[in-house]
Order: sequence, then C-alpha cells, then structure tokens
Amino acid sequence: MATKKQSKVAKKQLKSAKKQTKAVTKKQPKAAAKKQTKAAAKKKQVKVAKTETSQTFGGQYGYFDDVNKEYVLRNPATPIKWCNYVGTLAYGGIVDTTGGTVLCKGDPALNRITKYISQMPCSDFKGSTTYIRIKEKDSIKILSPFVVPTCTMWDKWECRIGLSYTKWVAEGFGLKVTVVVFVPSKSSTLIQDISIENVSRKNMEIDVVPVYEFSHFDALKQLTNADWVPQTMTVEAHKEKSGHVILEQYAFMKKQYAVNYFTASLPADSFDGDRREFLGFNEITGWAAPATLYRGKLSNSTALRGDNIAAQMFKFKLAPKKVGRVATQLGQEKSIEEAMPAIKKYRDLKNVDKAFADLADFWKNYLTALQVKTPDSSFNSMINVHNPRQCHTTKNWSRYLSLYQLGFGSDRGIGYRDSSQDLLGVMSHMPEEARVLAENLLSVQLEGGNAMHQYFPSTMEANEGDSREKEDRPKYYGDDHLWIVLTVASYLKETGNMEFLKKEIPFYNKKKELEAREKGTVLEHLKRSLAFSWNDRGTHGIPHLGFADWNDTVNLPTGAESLFNASLFAKALLEMIDICEAIEDRELAEQYKNWYEEIKAQVNKTAWDGEWYVRWFDEKGEPLGSSKNKYNKIDSLGQSWPVISGIAPAEYAKTALDSVNKLLNTENGIKLSWPGYNGFDPHVGGVSTYPPGAKENGGIFLHANPWVMIAETIIGNGDRAFQYYNQINPAAKNNGKINEFESEPYCYPQNILGSEHKQFGLARNAWLSGTSSWTYQAATQYILGIKATFKGLSVNPCIPKVWKEFSVSRKFRDAVYEISVKNPNGVSKGVKSVTINGQAIEGNVLPILPGKKHIVEVVMG
Ligand code: GLC
Repeated sequence: MATKKQSKVAKKQLKSAKKQTKAVTKKQPKAAAKKQTKAAAKKKQVKVAKTETSQTFGGQYGYFDDVNKEYVLRNPATPIKWCNYVGTLAYGGIVDTTGGTVLCKGDPALNRITKYISQMPCSDFKGSTTYIRIKEKDSIKILSPFVVPTCTMWDKWECRIGLSYTKWVAEGFGLKVTVVVFVPSKSSTLIQDISIENVSRKNMEIDVVPVYEFSHFDALKQLTNADWVPQTMTVEAHKEKSGHVILEQYAFMKKQYAVNYFTASLPADSFDGDRREFLGFNEITGWAAPATLYRGKLSNSTALRGDNIAAQMFKFKLAPKKVGRVATQLGQEKSIEEAMPAIKKYRDLKNVDKAFADLADFWKNYLTALQVKTPDSSFNSMINVHNPRQCHTTKNWSRYLSLYQLGFGSDRGIGYRDSSQDLLGVMSHMPEEARVLAENLLSVQLEGGNAMHQYFPSTMEANEGDSREKEDRPKYYGDDHLWIVLTVASYLKETGNMEFLKKEIPFYNKKKELEAREKGTVLEHLKRSLAFSWNDRGTHGIPHLGFADWNDTVNLPTGAESLFNASLFAKALLEMIDICEAIEDRELAEQYKNWYEEIKAQVNKTAWDGEWYVRWFDEKGEPLGSSKNKYNKIDSLGQSWPVISGIAPAEYAKTALDSVNKLLNTENGIKLSWPGYNGFDPHVGGVSTYPPGAKENGGIFLHANPWVMIAETIIGNGDRAFQYYNQINPAAKNNGKINEFESEPYCYPQNILGSEHKQFGLARNAWLSGTSSWTYQAATQYILGIKATFKGLSVNPCIPKVWKEFSVSRKFRDAVYEISVKNPNGVSKGVKSVTINGQAIEGNVLPILPGKKHIVEVVMG
C-alpha cells in the first residue's frame, strides 16, 4: 500500500505531467494540429468508454475463421501482447497484433534488424508502425491502422492472424485501410502491402507513412551500449530517377556485406532516416504525434550516426470509391546492388500478389499431410490448422525468439532437446527439412555421446546452456542426447530412407576446426548416445541427472540420478531396437534388449513409492518426488514416462496415473508437481526460485500434459486422455475463460499458473513450447492413433467412448490414406476390422502402398 506521502508525490507528478503535455501540444506547429489533438482526445474518451462496455461480449476478443484458417481479432486491447510469426528463421520474425515487428535474418541475437522492446506497454511503438495522414481544409488527422501508437479508435477494426501473415482491416474516417504483412517464401524481405479505399463521398488527400526502427545487428549490444552502437549506425538514401527511394541502413562493420534496405512500389514524396528528425522537438512528443507529420513533408534526413529509422511518405489523392495501394519492402542483402533484382520484383504489385498466393499454396500443401474430422470442432480447428502451424513455428525458432524468450545474447539459441522434440511434431509434414535440422543437432553431439545444450545457427558454435553458471554442478544435461534417437527413428519410419543411417556427420569438439573433428555415421551417433547413458549410471543403476534432465530447474548436486532419464533412455532403446530390426542387426538389437530389461528391473526395484514412482534420487541416494518429501511429493513425468517407455507393469501404470489424476489434475491442466517449494532451497536450485504454483514449481507446465494423455491412451483410457486434451486446448478457452487465460487462444503457451497460485489459470510464454509438438503427437498418433512404423501406417485409436466415428486423411510415403473409423459399440480402444480399398487385411497396420489415394475403413470394437 502507498503511504499518504507517496500518494501526494504521485499526485504532484501527475499534475506536472499534465502541464508538460499541455506545453508540448501547444508547441505543435500549426493551429490545425491543436484542433486535431483536441478532437482526437474527445473521440478517444467516447470510444474508450465504448470498449469498456464491449467487454460484455464475454471477454471474447475474436473468433476462429476455419475457412480462411485465421483467428480474427476484433478488439485490439488484448490482455497481453498477442502475436504471429512471419517468414522463417532464414528471414522473418514476429508481428504483434498492433503492428510491432521483430525481424532478423538467420539469427535473432547476431543479426537482428528491427528494435522491439517487448517489456514496454502495448501502446508504445515497437519497431514499426504505419501512419495515415488525412489532410482536410484546416485540420490534419494522424491515424494508424494498427491503433498503436496514435491510439486511433476505428469504427470497425480487425486483425486476421493467418498462416505466416497478418492482415488488418480498419474502417473509419471515410477510409477502409487494409494492410497485409508477410515474407515471400525463400525471400529476404518483409512486405507490407497497404491499400486505402476512400469510402466517403468526397475527394480525399491521404498520406501514408510506414516507419521501421532499426536495431544494431547484435541485439544485446543495442540494449547495453548507448555510445558504440549509435556511433556505428548509418542510414543513406538512394534516390532513383523514377522517384523511388531506397534507404540503406548498416552498422559500419557490416557495410561491405550486410545492409538493410527499405523501399516501396511507389516513388516517395519524402523520407527520413534519422529518428530525431522524424519525431522532431528533440523527440518529446514521441511516436504518438511525430512533429514532422504536422508539417508538410518528412525531412529527407539521412543518419551519420544515432537512432536509425526508415520512413517514407506516399501521397494519394482519392476520389470516392478509389483505392490507393503501396507495398513496402524491408530486406537485407550483401549490397543494394545485390538487392536490386528482389527490389524490382516486389515493386511490381503482381509479384506481391503472386508471392502471397504462393504462400497460401505452401500452407495448403503443408496442411494436407494430415487433416481430420471428429465430433469436436475446437479439436478439429487445432489439429487441422493451428497446432501443425505452431509445430512449424517451433521447428523454425526452437526457443530462440518470442515475446518471452527474447533472443538476446548467448542465453538461448537452438536448443538440443527442444528442437529434437520439435522435429517430432513436423515429421509427417516436412521430413526432409526435419532431417536437415537433425543433422545440425547431431553435429553438436560430443564424441563421448552426450550433447551440447544449444547452438547458434549462424555460427554453429555450441555451448553448455545454464550449466555454465554453476561451478559445483555437472556440465552436461542427462537427457539431451537421448531425444535425438527418437527424432531419427521418427524420420526413418516416416520416410523409409535407411541410407540416412550411413551418413557421416562430425562430432562436436570446441578445440578443433570443423575439418579436424572426428566423424561418425548417424548410426554411430545414436549408438554413442545410448552408450553414454548406459555408462553414466549411479548407485541405483539409474542414469545420472547431469546438470538437469527435461526439467531444467531441478539441479541437484553431482551424483543424483533421474528416473525420467531412465524412462527416456528405455524409450530410446525401444526405438533403437526397432531400427536394428529394420536393418537386420540382430546382435545389436539383442544388446539393447538386455539394457532395456536391466533398466526396467532397476526402476521397478528402486523407484516405486507405493502409489507412484519417485522422480529423482539425490546425491545421497534420497528420493525426491516421494510421499516422504515435504515439497515436490509427486511429479507428473515420473508417472507418464514409465508408461510411455513400457517399463511400468500394468498395475503400477494404472495406480501411478490415478495418482496423477487425484493429486495433480485441475480444470486448467495437469500440474507438473505438488506441492510447490515455498522458499529458495539451494539444494534443488532453480525450481524453488518460483512461488508455489508457477512454472516448474507446481505450475501447469503444459509440455508435460500430452505425456499424461499419451500414457492414458496406452492403458486404454480414452475418456481421460481426451479430457486432458480439452483442458488445455487454447481454442476451447476462446469463449468464457480467455480473460483468465490471457494468452493467445490460437497457440499453446508454455505455462499456466497452478492451483496453489492466486492467479490460477493465467497463461504465459506463448508459441515456443514443446507442448505444441507433443500435443500434436498425442492427438494424432495416440488419440486418433495414426502412427508411422517401419511396416506401414498403424491405426490404433483410443478415443472418448461417445465418439461414434471420425476420419483422417494422412499422406504417408507416396500415398494418401483416407481413413474412416466407426465406433458402433462405443468403445475407447480396440480395432475389430480393417479394409483397404474394399479388401480386408490382417491386423491394424496399413501396408506401404504405391499410388495415390487409398480408402481405408476401420471398425472399432
Ligand atoms: C523450457 C525449456 C525446455 C525444458 C522445459 C522444462 O521449456 O525450453 O528445454 O525442458 O522448460 O524445464
């Protein structure tokens, strides 16, 4: 609570702030500007009141448009920033719903293009906006189709979050403004396609001013050094005979090989490259009311140093019903000369339209790999559009760049375990692209078999993640190297390309140049992964924890063992046994079977706690995740993974999963553990830095939820698996629960606050989470039960009993399988009969068939 004195001070500050604002507005160059500000303020008040009452539409901010595969936002005042991804890591980034842009080429930390500070309020300028200036007889209106930073209240506004594009439509002030932002496939340019229609009855003069603010390429330096950075930043202007302007921006040391450029399909009336010139008044009126916009033209400034921007003004005189259009390009190439072909290409609006249509084709093609029809519409929406789309996003960005994982410095990069799991979510859609990333991951595996924790894509330099920070803890993670076995197995099953196992890939060795590093076949890499865990076991015969296992935040002293690592190791062994059998290496298969049996026996001998499995043994051999502990008595991974890996005998599997249901499940999802630590405990480390109920400390860490779904399907519990699916389906939160959830309803967040927290149900860390890949796998491979194997496509659904039927269209190898499943007796699991093209087959594995379409009919019972 504020003291009396504090609130007096606050009041005083408020008064003087008001005075200042008055003074600043007074200074505006023209009387017209003054009028406009007053009018805008009046309008604002009225409209703000309107939005407050419009909360009554159920806290609902928008709707799913499944036909156009978009989420349509109708209210810009989302509870927190919501966003979309455009382009790929090769060139692309994030576009938020109020027009902010984070853009990079190849690497957000080392080659960032726009400056976006995600912690600032949504109302701020965030790397980009577009101003619309309407000039009337004696007034000027400055608007933005993105609402921000001018606080424009349109009569009608929507933001369509589409597949790799965002489209805004804003109507009001006699105009209909449409803006589409996207990156054409395989290009290094961000297009902003702006159309303005005069929907009034009079002629209008409209100026359009798109603006981007540049970041230093070293994104962290931009924030930590305010002398060296501005001393090196330059904007030059190239004016072409045609009147087109190219603004060229670079940091001095990159002048010869990486320049950013901003240009457009239309000649520019004027431009600015220097932020101070553009904003005017030494920037005191800020982005909400740039002084230059109240004068006639922009200042035609370039920048020899300082805060670099790219702004251009385009002028339109529009009769009623006429449309003006301009497409801008923000790109990066070696030089302007090298950029010219792309610049010319996208100055032609036909090519912009074609690039947009091509993008739509890419997605159409991508999504046809797997389409479903089930009785649940939010399940269909997620599985047909938004979930595979999010998997594509996590595959691209790993955990490197989001509005939460900010991509500064060496904190992140491409995560070994994260990307290995992400690839499992895109394998049925883009196996060859997945293979390329898998090869990169394998190339940062060490000779000893364990892996580096993360690497930077532009340099391929790898590091040990957070384990670098702790002197007294192991310098490796106990799980990283095991995930890649699952990934490679999934690729082989999807494609049948067994030759891949023979491909030679180097092992990582910091001290050696790339050419001097030891190489091994992919098979050899996998063998070393398994051998590492086999040889790295502790006193209970269970693999060591290392610095951490999947749960980054439990960092026990050296010597601790992880039951999760044991299960993941067992699952990796099962996958490897499948591979060995497919390549007919019986001896190796035999060896891995023995290892599997040994691990299974050790886990069941040492880790059963009575009603669930314990999760770790600490360095002294004491259990953690046991009823004996005060905090962290039970952990969800400790139960789901012994079932997924098949090491839990049937009665243990059922009891453990019932304990999860009893002690960890909530209406908003399954908590990772219970109870949460209530204070920092250096023995366990990171997990106890959160309050109880947050993140890994008893929060609903969503990534772990699909593992429980999968485990429930394995023991045949389709109703529970689907209940768990629904609890965390963000699309199902769009009505009613969205103001509690707060995060985007069209993608999974990483975490939801658990029931021990007062803000139970609040979600954060949208987009880049392993939840995406695993929920997609849980839904398609375990609930619908369609899974690639070496022998064909296995069909083994485990569905809610009330589902009478569902269908799946699945591309597999060269063919498309149109599978319709009937459930006449209302069971959850069990396949009674299968026919392919009218012919009955034995068992439930659809053979690998040539040709195009095959009609499959399955009856459960
Ligand atoms: C984050 C990390 C992931 C880790 C998880 C649980 O999502 O990216 O690697 O497994 O947290 O700690």
